[in-house]
Amino acid sequence: MDLYEYQARELFAAHGVPVLAGIVARTPDEAYEAAQKLLADNDLLVVKAQVKIGGRGKAGGVKLARSAEEAREKAEAILGMDIKGHTVHSVLIAAGADIAEEFYFSILLDRSERRELALCSAQGGMDIETLAREHPEALARVGLDPKVGIDEDVAAQILGEAGFNRSHVEKLAPVLVKLWDTYRGEDATLVEVNPLVLTEQGDILALDGKVSLDNNAAFRHPEHAAYADVAAQDPREAMAKEAGLNYVRLEGQVGVIGNGAGLVMSTLDVVALAGEEWGVKPANFLDIGGGASAEVMAKGLDVILGDDQVRSVFVNVFGGITACDQVARGIVGALEALGDAASKPLVVRLDGNKVEEGRAILAAAAHPLVHMEETMDGAARRAAELAANA
Ligand SMILES: Nc1ncnc2c1ncn2[C@@H]1O[C@H](COP(=O)(O)OP(=O)(O)OP(=O)(O)O)[C@@H](O)[C@H]1O
Ligand SMILES: [Mg+2]
Repeated sequence: MDLYEYQARELFAAHGVPVLAGIVARTPDEAYEAAQKLLADNDLLVVKAQVKIGGRGKAGGVKLARSAEEAREKAEAILGMDIKGHTVHSVLIAAGADIAEEFYFSILLDRSERRELALCSAQGGMDIETLAREHPEALARVGLDPKVGIDEDVAAQILGEAGFNRSHVEKLAPVLVKLWDTYRGEDATLVEVNPLVLTEQGDILALDGKVSLDNNAAFRHPEHAAYADVAAQDPREAMAKEAGLNYVRLEGQVGVIGNGAGLVMSTLDVVALAGEEWGVKPANFLDIGGGASAEVMAKGLDVILGDDQVRSVFVNVFGGITACDQVARGIVGALEALGDAASKPLVVRLDGNKVEEGRAILAAAAHPLVHMEETMDGAARRAAELAANA
């Protein structure tokens, strides 16, 4: 789970990483109020778009403000803005810093090396991908020992490799240690600060923060549940999650249900290919897993059929431990349970264990919306054609 900058700052503050005061606002009036509070101790404020994507500054999502009125105007301009497909629903009103120098620091899970990697550069602020490409020598990459992480010595080593001088190392090392504490303590897979700054007053501050939390460790952090972004979530995805289904909404017209992630991925491919002729695409990924009971099938169909963009549905099942006859009964049961809610054509392709029995059950039920196909390609074509002509 990726966090917003203001949430990352909360975690930073909890682990002693120096951050400036900030208040989240969802409307221009809230921004005005937040600015009034912050202006009691600061004369410069920054209004920052809260979206889970980089490059906000370049997109016009980070603006300075010197009065509450100005903060309101800047918030008005930024709220609702689209940054690379992400709509801005909130802004962070943050105290401004007198920046002397900008640095880059991150810790991430390096899956290929099976350990954590620290990245550090004395040239921060700019886009790190560009820096890594154009000046790879300016970006220190230090693999971490999982038993040690970052202590003062490791921090000094990282900073040394990034070319920092003694006085910078002394100031920055404790902050790197605290960023490691954040990474480890919160079970993160990414902690990135760009820019980490040295102010004119000689203080180190994390002016920006990106944190990704490891969902597999969520059970250790009930407090992280508060970070789940319910508002920004697609309502159908929320519904599927509630039902325990593996569902991802896409932008097409052919609903897809299958058993097993691999089969569903290939189904998306064949639907996309077959759909080219009619300009239709898969509408979603939905893996109902191994035991495709009537209940799970009904839940899956319910999620897909309720999606306005869906014109037809392709049910692609390969019978294994759960045999085709059980799946067929599941489909018939699901259609009965859904009644009039099942209003779109369903192309069913069954294969594998007990395929004859499964097909016989569907044939006997003779549901007017169900079309049976023997092959995956044939079914994909049929589903695409039905979606195109719906
Ligand atoms: N509190 C602040 N005080 C002064 N300047 C700031 C402050 N926050 C950000 N800035 C300036 O704005 C620039 C961009 O800010 P920030 O890093 O938060 O956004 P970004 O890099 O554009 O977004 P992202 O990190 O999502 O790509 C910083 O490099 C810094 O120069
Ligand atoms: Mg940044």
